Amino acid sequence: MFEMKNVSMIYDMNTDAMTYALKSVDLELPDRGLVGIIGPSGSGKSTLMYCLSTLKEPTEGSILYNGKELTHVGNREREQLRRREFGFIFQKHYLVPYMNAVDNVQVGAVDKAAAAKAPDFLRELGLSEKEFGKKPAKLSGGQCQRVAIARAMINDPKVIFADEPTASLDHENAYNVMSILKEYSDDRLVLVVTHDKSILKDAERIIEIWDGELSR
Ligand SMILES: Nc1ncnc2c1ncn2[C@@H]1O[C@H](COP(=O)(O)OP(=O)(O)O)[C@@H](O)[C@H]1O
Ligand SMILES: [Mg+2]
Repeated sequence: MFEMKNVSMIYDMNTDAMTYALKSVDLELPDRGLVGIIGPSGSGKSTLMYCLSTLKEPTEGSILYNGKELTHVGNREREQLRRREFGFIFQKHYLVPYMNAVDNVQVGAVDKAAAAKAPDFLRELGLSEKEFGKKPAKLSGGQCQRVAIARAMINDPKVIFADEPTASLDHENAYNVMSILKEYSDDRLVLVVTHDKSILKDAERIIEIWDGELSR
């Protein structure tokens, strides 16, 4: 599904702060499964994920998505790709504070049919009806993250990119979030970036990154 060839990312090029966040990365990712990317803080995990998901453009190299060269895709098409084919989950849930749980899930829906599925998603993710109308401030951290997961899944994306999705959760909620992602990865690709190996015990594959370089 994804193929990275010789991808490098240099921040603040030509300044004293110049940083090689990725160094000649070669990587192939399958159409489905749970794939973990693990490495210490600052090793380039987020940069790798943002390059794959078109949120960032690498300084050098090629990234193919289903055979299409992502670095040559125009802004509009990138936006469509992110909206229709990719789902994003971050460490912070980034829910809209003045919207309730259902509205927060529907906010990213591409059409009415997708939006109509929001309550079902929330139910499947373990939220009860009485929580549907609550705003984020009235929900627990684990509940907010599950709302954010429902939002990421609402358009049935082919790929879910999750950047430290469990880092602000307790053990039990982290476990629940990972089992939801594992289930979704049965027929889709789920990429999880983390510095915590324990959450990746069910991953089909674990990629280690160190100082911008992959090691296997
Ligand atoms: N926008 C940016 N501008 C400059 N340097 C950055 C930027 N984002 C990340 N970096 C640097 O790139 C390296 C990799 O960062 P990042 O991909 O965020 O790592 P990780 O997610 O593994 O913590 C780090 O040295 C970080 O300081
Ligand atoms: Mg990061």
